[in-house]
Amino acid sequence: MKIPFLVLSFVLQCCFGSSLFHPLDPLNPTEIDQIRHIIEKSHLGSLPNLTFHFVDVEEPDKQDVLKWLSYKEIMPNRQAKIVIRARDETYELIVDLTIGSIISNQVYSGYGYPPLTFSELFRASKLPLKYPKFKKSILRRGLNLSEVSCVPFTIGWFGERVTKRALKVACFYRGGSVYVFARPIQGISVLVDVDSMKITMYTDRLRAPVPKAEDGGFTIEGQNVKWGNWNFHVGLNARAGVIISTASIFDDRKRKFRRVLYRGHVSETFVPYMDPTSEWYYRTFMDIGEFGFGRTADTLQPFYDCPGNAAFIDGYMVGADGQAQKVPRAICIFERYADDVAWRQIEIIVPGKVIRSGEPEITLVVRMVATVGNYDYILDWEFKQSGIIKVGVDLTGILMMKATPYTNTDQIMENEFSPLGLAQYTILVVYSFCFLSLSLYIVNNLDVDGNDNSFVKAKLETIRVSNQNTHTTSPRKSYWTVVKQTAKTEVEARIQLGLEPSELLVVNPNKKTRLGNHVGYRLITGQPVNSLLSNDDYPQIRVAYTKYQVWVTAYNKSERWPAGFYADHSRGDDGLAIWSQRNRAIDNKDIVLWYTVGFHHVPCQEDFPVMPILHGGFELRPANYFESNPLLKTGMI
Ligand SMILES: *[C@@H]1O[C@H](CO)[C@@H](O)[C@H](O)[C@H]1NC(C)=O
Ligand SMILES: *[C@@H]1O[C@H](CO)[C@@H](O)[C@H](O)[C@H]1NC(C)=O
Repeated sequence: MKIPFLVLSFVLQCCFGSSLFHPLDPLNPTEIDQIRHIIEKSHLGSLPNLTFHFVDVEEPDKQDVLKWLSYKEIMPNRQAKIVIRARDETYELIVDLTIGSIISNQVYSGYGYPPLTFSELFRASKLPLKYPKFKKSILRRGLNLSEVSCVPFTIGWFGERVTKRALKVACFYRGGSVYVFARPIQGISVLVDVDSMKITMYTDRLRAPVPKAEDGGFTIEGQNVKWGNWNFHVGLNARAGVIISTASIFDDRKRKFRRVLYRGHVSETFVPYMDPTSEWYYRTFMDIGEFGFGRTADTLQPFYDCPGNAAFIDGYMVGADGQAQKVPRAICIFERYADDVAWRQIEIIVPGKVIRSGEPEITLVVRMVATVGNYDYILDWEFKQSGIIKVGVDLTGILMMKATPYTNTDQIMENEFSPLGLAQYTILVVYSFCFLSLSLYIVNNLDVDGNDNSFVKAKLETIRVSNQNTHTTSPRKSYWTVVKQTAKTEVEARIQLGLEPSELLVVNPNKKTRLGNHVGYRLITGQPVNSLLSNDDYPQIRVAYTKYQVWVTAYNKSERWPAGFYADHSRGDDGLAIWSQRNRAIDNKDIVLWYTVGFHHVPCQEDFPVMPILHGGFELRPANYFESNPLLKTGMI
């Protein structure tokens, strides 16, 4: 419905005076109509192919806005800024709605163009389908033109002196699939001049085959340790706590379970407090080797340790008297619905419909809690249908406190080692909290005789583009690429994280995907934390393994505890750093990947009296392990 201009003006006047109106209000539909009306009535209205690219409120000066808000006397004029295109030119207009006319009109002559309109994008995407050369290209590929969808891409600027408004259009083959973007039609390049809406350049170079539509698949059944596509073993160990063994995942394409992880568990923790004074210097605990996560496992409480849908598993320890001792509900297993998205996609280029697809993330969590003295470790092993295993460590509980006579941080002398006053008569020690080393024994082999794996460090390196050496010229100056290096021996596989961008992979050099990639799993690490103790400090000698976050060793059944089996009063003559010095071959061998989750904790007042959760962890993620995303159902691709 159109409101005559005079009436409309009256309506606006009325509203300007009312307290509902604010000078910074966005344009309302009535005002937008008025703007179009004013421009169409002007000399601009007769220009061919006039398009609106931008319309917004032209804000009044700040002091006028503030004055109006205070006194409600002088209403600033209502104005709008408009960018239109006509006759291949960009016009910037200011329209004053209060007086009903264009008060400024300039042709923009700088670089760049206003945003493309949806109509332009849509029309450009349809051009190839009617273009004879394109039709021929499709026929030559043996494809059906009615199954082709095209998408316009903006093309940036690469140093050209003169530019025109242009788009490149890329085409994809639906061919019965809704995952159109997975199936590009390669080799065709279509340049569209947007102002004339014509194809101005067309090339068809390559005849690479269109990727075939293929099957994926997944099922969810029950909430047991046979869950979804996963199958694994859970046990409670006096020393390590929860141990995950023989984890394998069902590959829907190969119609069989494939091994991922032979065994994974926490293998040591190191908790040195940073206070060298006589009562404190010795507090350099190894909670696994000296106490044990299984022996300190808590009985889990339904509804706050684990959700209502959890199943519980009891554990058994041996008492000092040699008798079995039951730990009721030592482990819980539950499906987690975290309201996260597992994957999603929206397809708008299939004619006549918008296809939305995706699914929520549902995972399976195996949890235990160990309370070693004053604080608690919550350990989660989380399995995802995508093949990811996520290991999380949450720390909470009561920090070790040091009572002092001071009531304020300012009173603490310079020679005191406790720089943080926390509560009256209590001072927390600043400590380097909790190095956890998780021993993960990963096996990626797919067949009976394939136990052997390799460890690959993939570095990301910047490459300069040099056009002298190539026949094609590229306007790009640089890109990055992956340089892979397989660690041949144990010493080559020791890594201090954070020094260079890299990807860490365990691959099976004897197995390849159909596309020729080695089957693998990637280690996604958490934040890198190094031990800051000096190498000659006694606690550091005992836990030399904390100097590197990643180690790979040749599998040896007896090498399980990185600070040695006899951790109490140990001297550093057994353990990961010693074994690794033997520098055994690890390429295409049965190997163990060790990763340290570390924290340096600097306490603050909020940690008193009970510290809120501090989280750390890492992820094992399939990398060319599957032929495609294992979440997608058969027939979806
Ligand atoms: C207006 O647009 C049409 C295509 O939509 C085009 O053929 C014509 O050349 C354009 N006119 C001018 C003056 O740009
Ligand atoms: C091409 O695709 C259209 C639409 O999917 C279909 O109706 C038609 O039968 C196909 N033509 C051939 C030759 O397969």
